[in-house]
Amino acid sequence: MVSHKNIIHLKEIDSTNKFAREMEGIDEIADGTIIWADNQISGKGRGRNVWISEDGRNLTFSNIFHPVFLPVDFHFYLSKMVSLAVVDFLAKYVKNVKIKWPNDIYVHDEKIAGILIENKIMLNMIKNSIIGIGINVNQDFSNLNLPNPVSLKQLTGSEFDIAHLLDEVIYCLDNRYSQLKEKDYQGLDKDYSMFLYKKDQICGFVKYGESFNAIIKGVTEDGLLNVYTEGGESKLLDFGEVAYAL
Ligand code: BTN
Repeated sequence: MVSHKNIIHLKEIDSTNKFAREMEGIDEIADGTIIWADNQISGKGRGRNVWISEDGRNLTFSNIFHPVFLPVDFHFYLSKMVSLAVVDFLAKYVKNVKIKWPNDIYVHDEKIAGILIENKIMLNMIKNSIIGIGINVNQDFSNLNLPNPVSLKQLTGSEFDIAHLLDEVIYCLDNRYSQLKEKDYQGLDKDYSMFLYKKDQICGFVKYGESFNAIIKGVTEDGLLNVYTEGGESKLLDFGEVAYAL
């Protein structure tokens, strides 16, 4: 059973992020409120992507936070804290969980979870942050024509109780959100770096149509990926301008 006091549980909705964003009085809603749906009929991914999830088989929910304590320039720490919470949760069940910059969650080279963050900034404050999380749990993605999704069931061979898993993720989110509130930026940096996908390895990128290889070194405070190119040059990559070469 889910124990968290502020959960709105919906059978079906277009997107939990959209539902949260359009809620009346969102600015007054308790920090950490969760909108959880069994089924999303038009789940949103980052950019123009969609989020595919079979009815009742996966975790799809959004968190409403009011991180007014966080300097706007530090907004990427929301990404770090939530990525780490999802890693903390998944690490109980599977090995080799990594954060593919900026905030995709991978096991080996397959994507098990995605995160969509939408911030509302007012008067130089993050008034609210809607953090949508999709975790692939009981669905079998092997026969779908999608790039590389994988689920907990595919990795472990077991079926999971979705409500129970939500309880566990909420626990991990509470812990990492407290770490952020305590301003433990160094701790979050250290852990994010420890779980960074392909850290110290060569990775292919595409920027404005041009492909190049570079070694991933880390991520800056403001969320830029720090790499060394093959020519030994240090570069900072912005997620809006660069994509991983597949
Ligand atoms: C991505 O990897 O592109 C981000 C995926 C985010 C999916 C979640 S599922 C719950 C929430 N509601 C949405 O419409 N999207 C997010």
